[in-house]
Amino acid sequence: MKTLKLTFISSVIMFMSISLVAQPKPWIVPTNFKTMKNPVAVSETSTKTGQALYTKNCASCHGKAGLGDGVKARALKDFPGDFSKAEFQGQTDGDRFYKTKTGRGEMPKYEGKLADNDIWNIVNYMKTFKK
Ligand code: HEC
Repeated sequence: MKTLKLTFISSVIMFMSISLVAQPKPWIVPTNFKTMKNPVAVSETSTKTGQALYTKNCASCHGKAGLGDGVKARALKDFPGDFSKAEFQGQTDGDRFYKTKTGRGEMPKYEGKLADNDIWNIVNYMKTFKK
């Protein structure tokens, strides 16, 4: 009986550590979004608009420079990601657009909250986080 209990407890601990180590979960983006062409050309106007919207809507979690260190980040279960890393900068504009539009878990969904063109402006701004 004692061994059974111990086995149970250790499997619970094992399961919990596996789910912690398994971060970050891969985020599958549908091909039609992945290859989507950004309709908003990179320009000073677009980047400035994107910056204002990012600061207002996203910086609280993602941090002013996109490092994932916003004031709300500590209270999140999932790390919001480091936007200066090659892993993020290597994504397509469509990947970022899709993730922002649809959200997942603690990442809010911005569909209906931000116009598509404004999401593209933010996508253009997020490209400036490259180190
Ligand atoms: C309440 C906190 C919060 C806010 C506000 C927020 N995010 Fe997120 N975001 C997250 C979290 C947490 C994740 C990681 C989600 C996951 O992987 O399941 C994430 C992930 C992302 C990703 C995917 C990152 C990657 O590495 O693939 C993008 C892109 C993104 N957010 C953009 C934005 C944009 C743009 C805004 C503002 C319009 C925003 N987020 C606002 C919490 C937030």
